[in-house]
Amino acid sequence: MNEVFLNSPDNKLQNSLTNDILLKSNSLEYHKTLEEYSVTPLHDLKNLSRKLNVGKIYVKDESKRFNLNAFKGLGASYAIHKALSLDPNISIFCTATDGNHGRAVAWSAAKNNRKSVIYVPKQTSEARIKAIANHGSEVIQLDLNYEDTCKYASGISNKMDWTLIQDTSWENYEEIPAYIMSGYLTHLREMEDSINTLNQPGVDIVFLQCGVGSWPASCIWYYINRYFRNKPKIVLVEPDESSGILQSLLSNKRVTPKGSLNTIMAGLNCGIPSKSGWEIIKKGCDAALSISDEYAEKAIRALYFPIKDDKRVISGESGAAGLGGLIKCLEVNKFDTLREHIGLNTKSKILCINTEGNTDPESFKSIISNN
Ligand SMILES: Cc1ncc(COP(=O)(O)O)c(C=O)c1O
Repeated sequence: MNEVFLNSPDNKLQNSLTNDILLKSNSLEYHKTLEEYSVTPLHDLKNLSRKLNVGKIYVKDESKRFNLNAFKGLGASYAIHKALSLDPNISIFCTATDGNHGRAVAWSAAKNNRKSVIYVPKQTSEARIKAIANHGSEVIQLDLNYEDTCKYASGISNKMDWTLIQDTSWENYEEIPAYIMSGYLTHLREMEDSINTLNQPGVDIVFLQCGVGSWPASCIWYYINRYFRNKPKIVLVEPDESSGILQSLLSNKRVTPKGSLNTIMAGLNCGIPSKSGWEIIKKGCDAALSISDEYAEKAIRALYFPIKDDKRVISGESGAAGLGGLIKCLEVNKFDTLREHIGLNTKSKILCINTEGNTDPESFKSIISNN
């Protein structure tokens, strides 16, 4: 199977409901009203960049978001806020999740004194299930993969008149996912006084790990909207065994990934890409590649064992995948065309976003003890 795709994006955003909602996002202003809000750190890992022989490596640490150990609270809280302002009578929120999004929905529903029912696929770990249930949610594990769990949650929400807060979209289900994507804009806006400077971005390349593609799409949307053709190059990273975006780009249409769906990168282990995410991704990504679990592990260790005075970053398997993608780009000889395509060289200023901390503590412990 091909492990890389080079894209020539036109960086044009199309008119759509999603685009309209993203344009109107006031997520940063909303998030600032939450008691758990604080700007997450942006680290400049000088010694790691020297070691990898690139100009700069910045890591925005979303493991510190809202005490949830992952960035997902940005999307769920904003979507629930929007849903409740449209219909204050909602009593039960529902979603399907492989972990982080479900915890975010459970947290946000509880904050708003609402119930939540969260469905998880068969491979979700005990630790992730507990983390969701701790917010008072009903968590139900199904003997299904992620994609079929989403279909199940959608069906039962319709039947029970629950409000589905799903972080992926499909035909006729685009509004809530667009609010979720609007919520993600907060962490990009937080960098406007540092690397997301006006007119010209302060970084050359951004590595974004993908599950269904909603999060990377909202980042791409932000960069196109802010910089248009001057946007940084965007490289998407997925697990070898679950690479729905890469395979969709190679097929030039949205497809369910072929692969074993067996990966430690649980948050990225998804099925068919989000409809509205896909529309943005194909217009704005510059390259996509897939990585084996070993690259995610390497990246976790590179962040956990900092060189000299670099800051330590606690990163989970999916959170570290962007950096894993960068390491692979630099290591693999035959990727010279890819490196040239994205302009990756000794001067490149690179951003990775640590989208989760040690969300599976047992797995994290065994990865770092294997140094
Ligand atoms: C830690 C982490 N990073 C990245 C992603 C990717 O987000 P998306 O599924 O919107 O592509 C996820 C999705 O759950 C995740 O949990």
